Amino acid sequence: MRIFLIGYMGSGKSTLGKRLAKHLNLQFVDMDHYIEERNCKTIPQIFEEEGENEFRKKEQKALKELSEFTDIVIATGGGAPCFFNNIDVMNQAGVTIYLNINPEILAERLISSKTERPLIKGKSRKELISFIDESLEKRHEFYSKAHCQITKPDVDLDELMKMIS
Ligand code: S3P
Repeated sequence: MRIFLIGYMGSGKSTLGKRLAKHLNLQFVDMDHYIEERNCKTIPQIFEEEGENEFRKKEQKALKELSEFTDIVIATGGGAPCFFNNIDVMNQAGVTIYLNINPEILAERLISSKTERPLIKGKSRKELISFIDESLEKRHEFYSKAHCQITKPDVDLDELMKMIS
C-alpha cells in the first residue's frame, strides 16, 4: 500500500496524510521534511542557497526513494507532481489523491500559516490570490492526472476509503 497526497500549498496534505496513515495503520512521511533531513537544510535554505532548479532535482530524487517504501502515506510538496515525470512515477508506484481546494480557502490558510514558503514569501493578499490563480492554471494538467480527487476541505475518511478501494 502506497498513497501519495498531492495538491497546492495549504491544501491540507500533511493533516489528511497523518489522519489517513493512522486510520490505515501505515507510516506517514512528509516529503518536504524528508528532503530537509536528507540535505541537512530547510526548504527555504535550499531555495535561497541553491535555487529552485536544484530544489526540484532534490525533490525528484526524494520521490524516487520514497516510491520504493511500502505501507506508507506520503504528503508531497505542492509542486512535486508538476516537474519532470513525477506524476507518472507516483501514479505507477501507488494511489494518488488530489486535494483540489478552492483558491480562496488556500489563500486564507496560507496567510495564517506559520510555515515559511519561498514561492509566496512577502506577497500581499492580492498578490497571493493572483499567484495562486496563475499557478493553479499551470499546475492543473498535472494535478488532474491523479487517480482520485477530493474537493471538500473537511474530508470524511470513510468516504475517502470507498474512493480508493
Ligand atoms: C512548493 C510547495 C511546498 C514546498 C516548496 C515548493 C510548491 O510544499 O515543497 O516550498 O512548489 O508548491 P507544501 O505544498 O507542503 O507547502
